[in-house]
Amino acid sequence: MRTQVGIVGAGPAGLFLSLLLQREGIESVVVEMHSRKYVEERIRAGVLEQGTVDLMHKLGVGERLKLQGLEHGGIELRFGGRGHRIDFRELTNGKCVTIYAQHEVIKDLIAARLAAGRPIIFAAEDVSVHNLEGASPEIHFRANGISEKLECDFIAGCDGFHGICRPSIPAAALRIFDRDYPFGWLGILAQAPPSSHELIYAYHERGFALLSMRSPEISRLYLQCAPDENIANWADERIWKELHKRLETTDGWNLKEGPVIQKGVTGMRSFVTEPMQFGKLFLAGDAAHIVPPTGAKGLNLAVADVVQRFSWWMTSLLHRFASDNPFDERRQLAELDYVTSSRAAAQTLAENYVGLPME
Ligand code: FAD
Ligand code: DHB
Repeated sequence: MRTQVGIVGAGPAGLFLSLLLQREGIESVVVEMHSRKYVEERIRAGVLEQGTVDLMHKLGVGERLKLQGLEHGGIELRFGGRGHRIDFRELTNGKCVTIYAQHEVIKDLIAARLAAGRPIIFAAEDVSVHNLEGASPEIHFRANGISEKLECDFIAGCDGFHGICRPSIPAAALRIFDRDYPFGWLGILAQAPPSSHELIYAYHERGFALLSMRSPEISRLYLQCAPDENIANWADERIWKELHKRLETTDGWNLKEGPVIQKGVTGMRSFVTEPMQFGKLFLAGDAAHIVPPTGAKGLNLAVADVVQRFSWWMTSLLHRFASDNPFDERRQLAELDYVTSSRAAAQTLAENYVGLPME
C-alpha cells in the first residue's frame, strides 16, 4: 500500500487533518487501533472554540453541530458562595463557544471521510512506524490478521499522549517541557437537566468543581480529587454530596441530580515536546502536547495549537494545592475578585477561552 500522508490515530487531530488534506487534493490513509464503535462512543471533551466550529462548517461537517450544538456566550466563576459571569460575547466582539461532545465531532468526521470513499483502517493491531528519516517512511500494522506495510511521503503522528509515534523518535532528538499537577478530576455524566444554562467553574475550600453539560438532558460534572483517586471509593451519593457542597451559593441555587451514567478519574498535566517533527514524522494533538482541562482546550488544540499558558493559569486560579498556605488562598481569591470586577482582566480570560486566532 502507498499513500501521500499516513495518519496514525482517528482522534480529532488525525481526522481533522485527513479532511483538511482531502480538501487540498492530498491523499491519506488513517490507521486506528480501536474499532469505529469504540472511538465513536469514547466520552471526552465537550467545549468547541469558535475557530473549531468555523472549521467544521468550512469542511462541510457542521450540519448536526448546527442543530444540536449549544452556543454559550459566557461562563460563571463561582467563589465565596456567589456567581460572577464572564460575558464572552460582550468582551470579544460577539464570539462564543459551543457545547458539542467530542465523540459527536468524531462521528461527523468519520462519516464525511467514509462518504468520500477515503480509507480509515479501524482495529489495526501492532501499529509501528519505520524509516522516519528516509525518503519513504512506513507504517506497519496488522488488519484482519494480515500484516500490512503502508509506504508514505509523510507520517502524521496523531495517536494521542500514549501512542507509539512520539516514543519512536530517538529520545536525544526531543526536549520535553512538562508539569504534573497534584490533583486530578473525577468526572461524571448524569441523566439530569443542567442546573445552569452556562458552565460554572467553582473555586471552593474543599476543592474545584465544574458544572458542564452535553445536552438539555445530560449534565457533565467534575470534582477536583487526588491524582490517584480510586473511583471505587466514590459512590454516587458521595459524589452528589460533594458537588452540592462545592457548588453551593448563598442565594439558594439548586443542583439537579439524576442517575450517573458514566464516571471516571482523569489525570492533569501540562506537556510539550520540542520539536514536533523528526524526519518525515510530524506530531499533532495530544501526541505533541497536553494541557490540563480547566481551560477546555485539549480538543481545540488538536485542531489548532498550543495555549499552554492559559490552561496553566486557569488551573492554578481555581484549584486548591496541597502546598497552599493562607497567603496563597487569599491571593487566589484576590485574583478571582480581579477577574470578575476588572473589564481588562475579564477580557483576557474571555479572549483566551473563546480561542485566539489560529494564524
Ligand atoms: P486522541 O483523541 O487521544 O486520539 C488519538 C487516537 O489515536 C485514538 O483514537 C487512539 O485510539 C489512537 N491510537 C493510539 N495509539 C495508537 C496506535 N498505536 N496505533 C493506532 N492508533 C492509535 N479535553 C478537554 O478539553 N476537556 C475534557 O473534559 C477532556 N476530557 C478528557 C478525558 C480523557 C479520558 C482524555 C484521555 C482526554 C480528555 N480531554 C479533554 C482531552 C481531549 O479529549 C484531547 O486533547 C483530544 O482528544 C486530543 O485529540 P487527539 O486527536 O490528539 O488525540
Ligand atoms: C468540559 C470539560 C472541560 O475541561 C472544561 O473546561 C469545560 C467543560 C466538559 O467536559 O464539558
